[in-house]
Amino acid sequence: MPTPTPAEVIEAQRQDWNRVAAGWDKWDSYFSRNMTFINHRLVADARLQPGLRVLDLGSGTGYPALLAGDVVGSEGSVVGIDLAESMLAVATRKAKALGMQHVTFRTGDVTTLPFDSESFDAVISRFCLMFLPEIPKALKEIIRVLKPGGYVAAAVWSAPEKNPFIRVPMDVIKTITSLPPPDPEAPGVFRLAKPGDLKGMMEGVGLSPLGDEEFTADVTYATAEEFFSSLMDIAAPIQNLFATLTAEQKIEAERGIVKAVNGYRHHHRIVLPIAVRIVAARKPV
Ligand SMILES: C[S@@+](CC[C@H](N)C(=O)[O-])C[C@H]1O[C@@H](n2cnc3c(N)ncnc32)[C@H](O)[C@@H]1O
Repeated sequence: MPTPTPAEVIEAQRQDWNRVAAGWDKWDSYFSRNMTFINHRLVADARLQPGLRVLDLGSGTGYPALLAGDVVGSEGSVVGIDLAESMLAVATRKAKALGMQHVTFRTGDVTTLPFDSESFDAVISRFCLMFLPEIPKALKEIIRVLKPGGYVAAAVWSAPEKNPFIRVPMDVIKTITSLPPPDPEAPGVFRLAKPGDLKGMMEGVGLSPLGDEEFTADVTYATAEEFFSSLMDIAAPIQNLFATLTAEQKIEAERGIVKAVNGYRHHHRIVLPIAVRIVAARKPV
């Protein structure tokens, strides 16, 4: 199969995430509870404080933008950008419900930011950069829109073996159908999992690296069936793999995933470890 062009990757991303926006809305409080530690780490690494103007890349349904809005307060502002208008509709509704007029969202591509140079004090991002077809191009945009001395902090997924909630479904599907060997350079969930990868790219565009650390936690589910249901609602990349299966294979995959995930039962819940890499850098003064 020919390698998709950057424009094709971006369009596929837009369609993928729009398709799962209702699922993200449905599982919002569950997801917020489990992933909140990442938002707190990002606002700390980006040195957010009251009054700052912040940009969140790939905001989806609103995180970490909404926590950033809390920290910078109404004397500051946060703009979240994302390709998927349906994800942003959820984010906008949440900002309104929280009374955060200073947190706004707009559609756009992270690799061609629609903002003036040196117009942000800080840039944050959770689980977006690894999906970009041209990561260095996006990083050049980040350094362009940051004020001198401004901070950037980004969260990406760490290694697949440390993230069974993504790896297990992929492994089960691989036993049912043959998948092409993963291209380590292609956009995808684990594209920036390797220590030093994103940090090196940031250095390559002139950012001064501050940290590249892995954080671990657990996500928990009432049952393996609940895990499967949330997976199919929110995980666009797994949905895409499922779409290649026949009806019988889908049933087989569901059974296999539920069985494998039941292996992570601890007392009365399913407990799945996660590992997230958080990389921070600063634009030289
Ligand atoms: C896994 S979701 C993460 C959403 C949110 N930051 C969170 O952590 O809950 C990835 C998001 O990145 C967005 N995205 C992917 N490529 C993008 C691009 N080139 N420009 C802007 N957003 C992009 C997707 O539309 C999607 O909403």
